[in-house]
Amino acid sequence: MKKTKLVVGNWKMNGLLDDSKQRISQTLSFIKKHKKEMLDNVDVIICPPATLLSTVHEMTSKHLLFLGGQDCHTNMAGAFTGDISAEMLKEHGCSSVIVGHSERRFYHNESDELIAKKGEAVHKAGMTAIICVGETAKERAAGLAKKVVKAQIMNSMPNDTLYADNTVIAYEPIWAIGSGQTATQANIEEMHNFIREVLEKKYPALAETQILYGGSVQGTNAAQIFKYQNVGGVLVGGASLKPPEFCKIIEAALKA
Ligand code: PGA
Repeated sequence: MKKTKLVVGNWKMNGLLDDSKQRISQTLSFIKKHKKEMLDNVDVIICPPATLLSTVHEMTSKHLLFLGGQDCHTNMAGAFTGDISAEMLKEHGCSSVIVGHSERRFYHNESDELIAKKGEAVHKAGMTAIICVGETAKERAAGLAKKVVKAQIMNSMPNDTLYADNTVIAYEPIWAIGSGQTATQANIEEMHNFIREVLEKKYPALAETQILYGGSVQGTNAAQIFKYQNVGGVLVGGASLKPPEFCKIIEAALKA
């Protein structure tokens, strides 16, 4: 497993200019204080709405705070009203893009095949794809969690994954997202170990990539989660909007 821990903050559709600037400057002051410890140990990536990218980029470009997109189109340009391309995200300072988040899969009917193509666009633009997978509560109750996650991995990986190592997997059980119900140690380790096995067998280039956990990660449980086997980072939703909470999560990554 790669040594660098990843802390990814997904702001989703939240943030107007003023509150976002405040949020970033609070997080930045923590990061500046811990600059030395962070180098080589922890990467923090903020994924704000696209409307905030240039402002956040201006504030963060000289510091150890990286930018990510929340989604992108499969094409680099064209007649796709309302969409945003991977190249546009890159031009605004992004180094990675989340694709296949369960909210995109659910509200926008995104299929594994579409997600794979989006991942390819992310790679083509020279960025890292953060591919999200995870089962519903119903699928878990039916004993299908591993089967569902394996199928998502097999079908939503970008085509070039066999050779390229710029892909990260985020395991986010849907029932744990925004619910306050974090998956247990057993749930997380079982799935992360399983994902690692799948990657080692099918995508040797990704044998060491980080596998992130997402779903109700908070300042209070992050330190614990970082101790679990094969957890290379976290994807944080709600808590990434509260700088004191988010900084506690970064601190937990620093101590992991
Ligand atoms: P949450 O969201 O931390 O609010 O549960 C996680 C996510 O959707 O990435």
